[in-house]
Amino acid sequence: MDVYGLLGSPVEHSLSPAMHEAGYEAAGIDARYVTCEPEGGAAGVAAAAQLDFDGLNVTVPFKQDVLSAVEPTPRAARVGAVNTVDFSTTPPTGANTDVAGVRRAFDHAGVSLDGVDAVVVGAGGAGRAATAALAESAASVHVANRTVERAETLVDEFRTAFDGAPDGGDGPPATLSAGGLAGLTDAVPDADVLVNATSVGMESDETPVGAELLHADLAVLDAVYTPLETRLLREAAAAGAETVDGAWMLLFQGVEAFELWTEQDAPVDAMNEALRAGLEE
Ligand code: ATR
Repeated sequence: MDVYGLLGSPVEHSLSPAMHEAGYEAAGIDARYVTCEPEGGAAGVAAAAQLDFDGLNVTVPFKQDVLSAVEPTPRAARVGAVNTVDFSTTPPTGANTDVAGVRRAFDHAGVSLDGVDAVVVGAGGAGRAATAALAESAASVHVANRTVERAETLVDEFRTAFDGAPDGGDGPPATLSAGGLAGLTDAVPDADVLVNATSVGMESDETPVGAELLHADLAVLDAVYTPLETRLLREAAAAGAETVDGAWMLLFQGVEAFELWTEQDAPVDAMNEALRAGLEE
């Protein structure tokens, strides 16, 4: 039997066990997925290696901490965070499937990120993943954050990390810029893609972006998934925009991890059903 797990704190309400175990069942894989709250991320990876785990997901607050215990992929090194560990290599490989999760969530909705003008609101962990996903294929990414310095630091770091072509390809590097929330007034009306990577709207009817800025040529992903239809997505839909809820991002980071560990296509529908059933509880 294969054993996978999630390192984080707290993890007791995580939907990852249900989502992954539904995937194993649908794919006929004999495996379990457990949650662990270690003292630290690197110590958790070492303990899991000793216990013969096959793979780990890593969540808040350990995504940076585990970097020292793994060989990061170029993408994880660039983002500066690991959310998936693969023990089939020595040392274990540290990947970042949050980045692919953002791209695949848009792909699933039929939205290509190639050459788009994008706006990311938020400069925390979710903002870093969204900015990385967009910088790999977008023409321009503007990061707006309540604390302007945090957006500036993120953009400075990414300018260095993405020096040259995005994702090692031949295309031109993305244009990155940073600003405060007031700058959304100018940035959003001209944007093709908008990502909310703040916690605004979680368990509340607030929105980080004024409804008057939303328009029909926009695709909007909200990383918040409680509720699934946030005020931002409701107002975006009313403006005629394409909307992608946060459960798609959560699903596809899990799908990408499943595929990395098992080297086979994930049963996306079964994982999606389990995730959405868990969210409804
Ligand atoms: P995560 O890893 O989930 O991104 P985080 O690192 O705590 O979490 O980041 C939360 C993000 O939401 C940040 O961009 C934060 O802005 P600051 O950097 O200014 O703190 C943003 N955020 C949280 N509450 C907010 C609010 N009431 N208004 C605007 N932005 C908010």
